[in-house]
Amino acid sequence: MKSKLIVGNWKMNGGLQANSALLSAIQSGLSSVTCRAAVCVPSPYLAQMQTLLVGSSLAWGAQDVSAHESGAYTGEVSASMLRDFGVRYCLVGHSERRQYHAESDTLVATKAQRALSAGITPIVCVGETQAERAAGQTEAVVKRQLAAVIHANGHCISEIVVAYEPVWAIGTGLTASPEQAQVVHGLLRKQLQAATAQADRMAILYGGSMNAENAATLLAQPDVDGGLIGGAALKADDFLTILASASR
Ligand code: PGA
Repeated sequence: MKSKLIVGNWKMNGGLQANSALLSAIQSGLSSVTCRAAVCVPSPYLAQMQTLLVGSSLAWGAQDVSAHESGAYTGEVSASMLRDFGVRYCLVGHSERRQYHAESDTLVATKAQRALSAGITPIVCVGETQAERAAGQTEAVVKRQLAAVIHANGHCISEIVVAYEPVWAIGTGLTASPEQAQVVHGLLRKQLQAATAQADRMAILYGGSMNAENAATLLAQPDVDGGLIGGAALKADDFLTILASASR
């Protein structure tokens, strides 16, 4: 069985001292963890991750990357800069980026390309809003979002990680039921299978109010290969419980 992948998304939270306390608490519980694990942190703290997590089984990642390689793009951070700080993963197309920064499917696909060309694994987030689900558009929306990335990345598509994050479940305490998650993960798997022979070994993560209580049942679904964890990743005990559920 392939090993599951649990990724913490710290969003815009943290500080030098708080990060260091959180990481040491997480690291003290890592010895029994057999799944893959990472934390995606705000860019200013990547150097701190490189220092504190060197040699640890906990990888680190960024939450966004520029679609440009370099140049006059004030405020942007390039994939090669992230690489300088040992970044293994980079979230792209998180719904908060799509919603608050008007990121289009095409832009997200380019960002995934930039990450891949720097040797960073993009974690491509897809997911429908509550209104889209109510209108019966879930399948069309997630397929459209993933199709843009498949189209732009050709045979490299097998190198990405996909995260299904229903927008209505993010930070709301509402979680997709394990069955609802499996239905969408199954659709995404089929879409990947049509694009690459490697689809079965690719990771499709679930995100959206995954926590210490519900992780085990979500992770038991055949096409749920891990989790993208927001709020619960900021509490060491909760994050470790999720890591334990993914290590079974
Ligand atoms: P949540 O966030 O776990 O707090 O719902 C998940 C995410 O946005 O990646």
